[in-house]
Amino acid sequence: MEKRFITTPIYYVNDVPHIGHAYTTIIADMMARLYRLQGHETYFLTGTDEHGQKIEEAAKSRGFSPKEYADEVSGKFKALWDEFEISYDHFIRTTDEYHIKTAQNAFDIMYKNDDIYKGEYEGFYCVSCETFFPESQLIDGEYCPDCGKQTRLIKEESYFFRLSKYQDKLLKWYEDEEKCILPKGKKNEVVSFVKGGLKDLSITRTSFEWGIKLPESLNEPKHVMYVWLDALINYLSALGYTRDEKNMDFWNNAMHIVGKDILRFHAVYWPAFLMSLNLPLPKHVAAHGWWTRDGKKMSKSIGNVVNPKEVADTYGLEQFRYFLLREVPFGQDGDFSQKAFINRINSELCNDLGNLLNRIIGMSSKYSNYEINSKDVLKYFTDEIETANALCKNALLASDEVATNRYLEELWKVLNLANASIAKYEPWNLIKDGEKDKALALVAMVSNLLAKVAVLLSPAMPKSADKIAKALSFDVNTNLYNKLIKDGGIIDFMAVATEPLFAKVEVPSLENVVEVKKEEKKVEVINIDEFKKCVIKVGTILECENIEGSDKLLKFQIDLGEEKPRQIISGIAKFYNPSELVGKQVCVLANLKPAKIFKHLSEGMILSAEDGKLTLLSTLSKVQNGAIVG
Ligand code: ME8
Ligand code: MG
Repeated sequence: MEKRFITTPIYYVNDVPHIGHAYTTIIADMMARLYRLQGHETYFLTGTDEHGQKIEEAAKSRGFSPKEYADEVSGKFKALWDEFEISYDHFIRTTDEYHIKTAQNAFDIMYKNDDIYKGEYEGFYCVSCETFFPESQLIDGEYCPDCGKQTRLIKEESYFFRLSKYQDKLLKWYEDEEKCILPKGKKNEVVSFVKGGLKDLSITRTSFEWGIKLPESLNEPKHVMYVWLDALINYLSALGYTRDEKNMDFWNNAMHIVGKDILRFHAVYWPAFLMSLNLPLPKHVAAHGWWTRDGKKMSKSIGNVVNPKEVADTYGLEQFRYFLLREVPFGQDGDFSQKAFINRINSELCNDLGNLLNRIIGMSSKYSNYEINSKDVLKYFTDEIETANALCKNALLASDEVATNRYLEELWKVLNLANASIAKYEPWNLIKDGEKDKALALVAMVSNLLAKVAVLLSPAMPKSADKIAKALSFDVNTNLYNKLIKDGGIIDFMAVATEPLFAKVEVPSLENVVEVKKEEKKVEVINIDEFKKCVIKVGTILECENIEGSDKLLKFQIDLGEEKPRQIISGIAKFYNPSELVGKQVCVLANLKPAKIFKHLSEGMILSAEDGKLTLLSTLSKVQNGAIVG
C-alpha cells in the first residue's frame, strides 16, 4: 500500500465559504476516502491563506487587524468543513508559526541555490488576483486580464525567482508525465502558456506589511514574501519540511485539487519552486471548472452566491455531495440550479438507489425471511456479476483522473443493471412457476450489485453507504472492498427492515435570492389597473424571530387588520435584529401567492428600499392596521 497526499487550495480569508470552495473540498474528501478505502495511508490537507495585500485591505476596511480578521474567517471555513464531516487530517493556516518557519527556510534554500536575486520591479499588479501582469496583457491598458478589475502600477525593490531558467525543465515534465495535469485539455493550455516564454517572477513586496518576513540572514526588514510563494509552500509545511520532516514521505505521492483559476500557480510556478528545492514534483495537479448559478456568474454584488450550508440544510448534505460530484464533467464549468438538483434527487437517489434497497428488503422478507444466500448466484447470473465487476473497474479508472461524474455514472450503470434484472426475470413469476431457487439467486445477485455500489459510493456519500450496509448487515471497509471490488467476489446478506434512504422533493425550497442586478432590470411602463392588482397594506409587527440555520431569514407575525396575523418570511436578518422590529408598522404586499421559504409558510412580502443597505417602508404617521397603500 502507498502513502498518498491530497490537498485542496488554502482559501483566502477575504470571503466566506461558498459552493465553489465546497466543491473543491468535497472532491478532495471523496478522493481521500477512496484511497483510505483501498487501504492507502492518506494525508488530506486543507486550510486558509491569510497573508497579502488583499487580506490586509479587507481587514482594514472592516476595522479589524489582519490577524483578528483572519482568525474569524478561517474559523468559518474550519467550522463548515467540520459540520460537513470533511475527513481532513490537518487544517493549516499560513499565519501558523511552523508554516512561517518553513516558508523562510524554503526561501533560504532557493536563495542559496542561486534561484533568487535582487532587482527592481516595475509593473502592474492586480490585488484581487494577487498577480503581476505585463502591460501588454492588460485590457485597455489598465484592467486585469483575469478578473477585469483595475490594476495598480507599482515600482519597488524586489527579489526575483529565476522562473525563466525552468522553462525547458517544465516542458519536459509535462511531456514525460502524461497525467501530471488533469484533465488533458487543461494541460494543453498550460503547455502553450509556458511555450510562450516565462519571465522571472517577483517574489517579495515592500509596499505593505502583512506577509512573511524574509530569512533573517538577508537582513531585509522592508520586504515580505509574495503571498503566492508563501501559500504554495503550505503543502510542504504541513508535512514538516525542513523541520521534523516527519510526514515528508507523503510528498512522494501528492495530488493537488484546484480550480482552473489557480492552475497556472500550481502547474507552472509551484513545480519550478520545487525543482529549485530539489524536491519531487506532484503526481497530479487536477483542475476543475467554475460554478455559476442559474447560468449567471456568482458574485456578492448580484447577491446570488450559493451558500453551501444553506443548500445542505435544505436538501441534505449527502444529496448535495452527490449533486456536486455528479453534475459536471471534471474540468468543465457547471451550473447550480435547484431544478437540476431536484431531478437528480428524485430520479437517481430516490428511484434508482433508494427503491432498489426497498425492493431487496421487500423480496427477501417475502421469499426467505430476510435471509439472502448467494450460493446459486453464479449458477444463474454470472453475466450480471461480471458486467457489474467490469463497471466497477471502469469507475476506478475514472477516479484515476478525478472524473467524479464518470465514477458515479459507472456506479449508476450497476444500479440500472440491478433494477433491469428484477424487471426482466420477474422473481414473483419465478416463484409462481416453481423456480424458487432462481428467484432467491436473483435477489442475492441484485443485493451483491447494490453492495458493490455501496462500497464504491461510500467515498462520495459515506452516510448513505452506511445505511445501505446496515440494511443488508455488512460493514464498508478495506476487507470488503478487496472482496467485492478488487476480487470481484460475492457475499451473503441478512436484510433488515429500514426507512427509505431518501425523500422525494416536490418543489424548490431554497430561499430565493435576488438574481439580477438592479441596473440590469428593464423598466416597463404599466397602467394604473396593473398597479391596482397589488394589494399593499400597512400592518404592525407582532412577533419577529430568527430562523434556525439561516443567517438571512427572519420570521414575522404581522397584524394586517385581518382575523389572524400573517406569517411572513423575509430575507432581512442581515439588516435588522428581530427585537428592534416588534411593534413597528410596515408595508406588506398582501396578495402575493403564499410560498414555502426554507420550510416555513410565507403569506406576503414586506416592502423595503435598497441602496446597498436595506430599510423597511413605513407610513409617516401611525395608521390602522390593514390600511391600503395606493
Ligand atoms: O485562490 N467555482 O484562494 P480562493 C468553482 N488562496 N470553484 C471555485 C469557485 C467557483 N465559482 N470559487 C472558488 C486562492 N472556487 C488562493 C489559493 S493555494 C496554495 C492558494 C474554489 O479563496 C476553487 O477551488 O480565491 C478555486 O481554485 C479556489 O476556490 C480559489 O479560492
Ligand atoms: Mg479567488
